[in-house]
Amino acid sequence: MTICKTKNELFDFLKTYRNSGKLIGFVPTMGALHQGHISLIEKSINDNDCTVVSIFVNPEQFNNKSDFDKYPNMLEADIEKLKKNGCDAVFMPSMKEVYPEKDNRVFDLYNLDKYMEGVFRPGHFEGVVKVVSILLEIVLPNNTYFGEKDFQQLSIIKFAVKKYFPNLKTNITACPILREPDGLAMSSRNLRLNTEQRKAGAEIYKAMNAVKKIECKTLKRLKSFVINKINESDYLNVEYFEVVNPETLQPISELKKGEKYRACVAVFAGEVRLIDNIEIYD
Ligand code: PAF
Repeated sequence: MTICKTKNELFDFLKTYRNSGKLIGFVPTMGALHQGHISLIEKSINDNDCTVVSIFVNPEQFNNKSDFDKYPNMLEADIEKLKKNGCDAVFMPSMKEVYPEKDNRVFDLYNLDKYMEGVFRPGHFEGVVKVVSILLEIVLPNNTYFGEKDFQQLSIIKFAVKKYFPNLKTNITACPILREPDGLAMSSRNLRLNTEQRKAGAEIYKAMNAVKKIECKTLKRLKSFVINKINESDYLNVEYFEVVNPETLQPISELKKGEKYRACVAVFAGEVRLIDNIEIYD
């Protein structure tokens, strides 16, 4: 596996693939890789001739400085996992390489950022769109892979790439959430949970899964069931639970027969913020 720290190094590495019309797959990450990331890498390896993974903890998308400071950093272990899983190149740029100057671009995300994460993490999605567009311009992949755990992020990236960067011509592929055996969605943040919080974390998916099939519930009952069930735990505190239209991400006001929705949740386990989502239907 080739390790590239600069755009030029990556450009040189990719030259032969590009010149011979080979397919390049790209998995952007912030490191602290887990099986969820590996599943994206496996999909990319399967679909493409060459797979590039980036590891860059993007300060622009953290609205909370301590969350940024505490983001797990385990570069050596990450590199070992990438080698073991057949990644062709890892791009680990410095801050200056990604942002040689202040990125003052402003993106209108057409209300997709007005709900859920957008309410509680102001500026987060602008930061994500900035870094993803910069990374895509460097890698110029044919296919790019994102996990459905960050459902709102995925929708916003799909929208932004189509609206603002159509010349990049990359296909965005969504990959399903991977879960621990007890149901907790895999996340780099899980590493920060203590034993009690980690155990309690399983309640999030259990509560959401219990309402997967709506079966005559009203929206009010469904929401209070999930919120109360999660908050029953001494270690968990729901920040929001919303049932949204999966296209517009707008919270719905009533459940309609035959419709499919996304139920999305953010929960604090101590200082660690966990998110999850599930498709629900009647
Ligand atoms: O999902 C993530 O890990 C990050 O938001 C991403 C897409 C790598 C951008 O920094």
